Amino acid sequence: MAVVSKGLEGIVAAETRLGEVRGQEGVLFYCGYDINELAGKVSYEEVVHLLFYQRLPNRAELDKLTTALRAEREIPQGVIDYLQSAPKSARPIDVMRTAVSMLGCYDTMRHDLDMSHEQATAIKLVAQIGVIAAYFHRARNGQSLPPVRKDISEAAHFLYLMTGEVPTKEAEQTLDVAYVLHAEHGFNASTFTARVVASTLSDMHSAISAAIGALKGPLHGGANEGVIHMLEEIGSPDKVDAWVEDALAQKKKIMGIGHRVYKVLDPRAPHLRDMAVKLTEQLGEPKWIQMSERIATIMRERKSLNANVDFYSATVYYSLGIPTDLFTPIFAIARMSGWTAHVLEQWSENRLFRPMSEYVGRPYGQKVVPIDER
Ligand SMILES: CC(C)(COP(=O)(O)OP(=O)(O)OC[C@H]1O[C@@H](n2cnc3c(N)ncnc32)[C@H](O)[C@@H]1OP(=O)(O)O)[C@@H](O)C(=O)NCCC(=O)NCCS
Repeated sequence: MAVVSKGLEGIVAAETRLGEVRGQEGVLFYCGYDINELAGKVSYEEVVHLLFYQRLPNRAELDKLTTALRAEREIPQGVIDYLQSAPKSARPIDVMRTAVSMLGCYDTMRHDLDMSHEQATAIKLVAQIGVIAAYFHRARNGQSLPPVRKDISEAAHFLYLMTGEVPTKEAEQTLDVAYVLHAEHGFNASTFTARVVASTLSDMHSAISAAIGALKGPLHGGANEGVIHMLEEIGSPDKVDAWVEDALAQKKKIMGIGHRVYKVLDPRAPHLRDMAVKLTEQLGEPKWIQMSERIATIMRERKSLNANVDFYSATVYYSLGIPTDLFTPIFAIARMSGWTAHVLEQWSENRLFRPMSEYVGRPYGQKVVPIDER
C-alpha cells in the first residue's frame, strides 16, 4: 500500500545541484558553499551567478552578468501603466504577482543573445522584480517613478527606487546580505510550486507567478510581515510573556518560529539577528530586538522551536525604513534567482510532477439519483 506523507514531509521529489538544507544539523549550502561561507563575503550578484552557472564568477564573468542584469532593468510601459493604475490599497505582493504575469505577455524571443531565451528571461526577471515592487510603492503614494539607473547594485537600486535617494553603503550592504541569505532554499513550497508548473512545460512567467502566490502565505514568506504585526500588537518587552502564553493557549502559530525542515536553529537567523541588533541600536529602538529575543527564548524553552529566517529579517527591514507590506516582496526579489535557477534546472532534466492521492471519500458504487429525487 502507498505511504501517505501529508505535506510531502520527508519525500525527496527530485535531485538538485542548487541548494541543500540539512535540517538536523542546521546547515544550508548553495551549490556546495555553506551559507556561513557566503554571507558577508560575496554579493547577491555573485550568488545569482552561482545559482545560474553553479560556480562563483571571476571578475570578468561577474562584470558580464552585472551588465546583463542592469541592461534589463527597464520594464515595459504597459506594466508601468498597470502599477500606476492598480488599487492603492492592493497588497504589493499581489501587484507583484500580477505584474510578473503581465511581463510574460511582453517576453518576446530574442536572437541576439549568447544564451537561451529561458536564461535571458531568468536574468530579466531577476533584474525587473525589484523595480516592480519599488515602482508600485511609489505609485500608491502618488510619487513619480524615477528612471532606472545602471550604475548601482541590485540591493542599492531597489532602495534607490523606493526612496528616490541612493542608499548609504551600510543600508546597501545590509539588504545585499539579506538577499544572499534568501536566494535559495531547496524544495521549499514556492520553489516546488515553480518546478511543478515548469514540469508541465509551461513558461517561466507562469511558474514564477505561481511561486509568488505560494510565497505570500503566512506559513511561508508571508511570515516576515506577520512578525512585525505581532511585535506591534505586543507593544513592549514587559508584555511579551503574557502575549506568548495566551497565543500558545489558543494554539496560534507564532510567526517567524519553527520550520518544516530545520529542527535546530535556521543558519540564516544568526546573520539576520546580528544585523537587527546593530540596526536597532543605531536607531535607538532596542525594544524590537528585546521583544524578539524574549519570544525566541520562550519558544525554545516551551516548545523546543527556533527562530527561522523571517523572525529577524522583519526587524532588519523595519530598521531600514521599509514598509511592512514590502517585506514579503523583498523575499520574492531575493528568491527570484533561486526560483528561476530551479525552473531552468527542471527543464534541463524534466519529468512531469504527478503524485498520487489516497482516496478517503464516500464508498465506491454510488448510484446517480435523478436530480428531483435527491
Ligand atoms: C513553518 C511551519 C509551517 C512548520 O510547520 P510544521 O512542519 O507543522 O512544524 P512541526 O511539525 O515542527 O511542529 C511541531 C509542533 O510545534 C507547533 N508549532 C510549529 N511552529 C509553531 C509556531 N510558529 N508557533 C506555535 N507552535 C508551533 C506545531 O503546531 C506542532 O505542535 P503539535 O505537535 O502540538 O501539533 C510552522 O513552524 C509555522 O507555522 N511557523 C510560523 C510561520 C513561519 O514562520 N513560517 C516561515 C517558515 S521559514
